[in-house]
Amino acid sequence: MDRYAVFGNPISHSKSPFIHTLFARQTQQLMRYEALLAPLDGFSQALAQFFAAGGKGCNVTVPFKEQAFGLVQQLSPRAKLAGAINTIRLTDDGVLLGDNTDGAGLVQDLLLHIPSLAGMRILLLGAGGAARGVVGPLLGQQPATLTIANRTLVKAQQLAAHFSSLAPVSACAFDELAGPFDLIINSTSASLAGEVPPIPSGLIHGDIAVYDMMYGASETCFNQWARELGARACIDGLGMLVCQAAESFMLWRGIRPGTKQVISELRRNLG
Ligand code: ATR
Repeated sequence: MDRYAVFGNPISHSKSPFIHTLFARQTQQLMRYEALLAPLDGFSQALAQFFAAGGKGCNVTVPFKEQAFGLVQQLSPRAKLAGAINTIRLTDDGVLLGDNTDGAGLVQDLLLHIPSLAGMRILLLGAGGAARGVVGPLLGQQPATLTIANRTLVKAQQLAAHFSSLAPVSACAFDELAGPFDLIINSTSASLAGEVPPIPSGLIHGDIAVYDMMYGASETCFNQWARELGARACIDGLGMLVCQAAESFMLWRGIRPGTKQVISELRRNLG
């Protein structure tokens, strides 16, 4: 049976085995997918061992995504842009191919809720690894503008400069933000600490959609904040998780699994 896995540290919380097991059942693929804890200083050895033992592909999560980027022999164009990978496939030629499906997962999930991102004025909060992985795919949707705002302004400026050859991207400090925006995506890890990035509340209006890349059994504090201020739609990152997994599955098995039902099942399981 073909073997797949997700590497991370910590990893016991990972929903990926649940998601990929449902995908495999749905598409009738004979495969096994497990969560593997890699030591913080032993990721490259764990990865090498996995493929030496016959592994066909894997996901990589926090904190190994950047390190994994340097361990594969080939990179997809979107992985090169992101500077980090979350998916590895052993090709028929025995080469490790690295890909980054996070941004595609975000875009696919957004398009389940919003008809099109073309022409939208998008604000991306945060400039860490999570933001870097999604800027390229967001720009590919041809928004009217993309503004990156971050607590540490210089990181937003660096991220904007990295992508400025693709399309105009601007950087801004939280307290200097002036709308209007049509969509705000929160890629910061503030929700983990129960905090909302200190952006002006006036940015939220009745026609705006917000997307928090975090998720949980209850509404994230960012989405709660935006909903109470009257945002039209408040979406959390559970769908992104499932959609990025579907992209990885497609890379490995050549079949695109359906995501909607898996998102619902995962949501039921969170409670
Ligand atoms: P990830 O891979 O999840 O993006 P990261 O690379 O550590 O993790 O980046 C975390 C992001 O969340 C950063 O943009 C960080 O802002 P700084 O660059 O100023 O550190 C942002 N962040 C974390 N906690 C935050 C908070 N309480 N308020 C606002 N932004 C926060």
